[in-house]
Amino acid sequence: MLRPRGFTVWFTGLPCSGKSTLARLLHQRLQRLGLSVELLDGDEVRQRLTRGLGFSKEDRDENISRIAYVARLLTHAGAVAIIAAISPYRQARDHARAEIGDFVEVYLDCPLEECIRRDVKGQYARALRGEIPHFTGVSDPYEPPLQPDLLVKSDVESPEESLQRIVGRLVELGYLSFEDLSRSASEDQTTGGLA
Ligand code: ADX
Repeated sequence: MLRPRGFTVWFTGLPCSGKSTLARLLHQRLQRLGLSVELLDGDEVRQRLTRGLGFSKEDRDENISRIAYVARLLTHAGAVAIIAAISPYRQARDHARAEIGDFVEVYLDCPLEECIRRDVKGQYARALRGEIPHFTGVSDPYEPPLQPDLLVKSDVESPEESLQRIVGRLVELGYLSFEDLSRSASEDQTTGGLA
């Protein structure tokens, strides 16, 4: 039997750019296609796999390196790993790409002003008052990808539109097939979309 081809979808972007939202939507969508898929979200990972690490460049690099290691294991086992992490440093992301191989980098390109307006956890406000040192976008750098596999303007597109574009890109790259998608669509019809 052929081993399914694993891959990693790596969401990168500023805090509140929409990484977790899209990662969750993609997770649901790929699960419904019957794929083995795991989601590693920065907030949760930092409670478990990388507990105790802070936000210096060294600690962020360590955080990303451990996430990349797990993503590589999943990918090589034929699963899909979805990563949602700020991952602000280009070099750390490029290392992850080199280690994992089947790596799809999705850049959530959202203007800083819009991220500050969303401020889901009130952290931008605190960072702007100087209460959180090294906060990405305020007092710590974010290095955008130079050649992401997909750029998502999350201030302009709806999450559903972005999800469609991500799925389309995965088809273009050969990670999903139209057969996968149509099989899932016909199952939706027979189950009334409850699958
Ligand atoms: S990364 O830079 O190492 O990739 P990661 O995505 O894991 O970051 O964690 C980001 C989360 O940590 C954010 O959702 C935010 O709530 C929290 N956080 C706490 N302090 C900072 C900080 N100084 N900069 C960015 N995020 C922070």
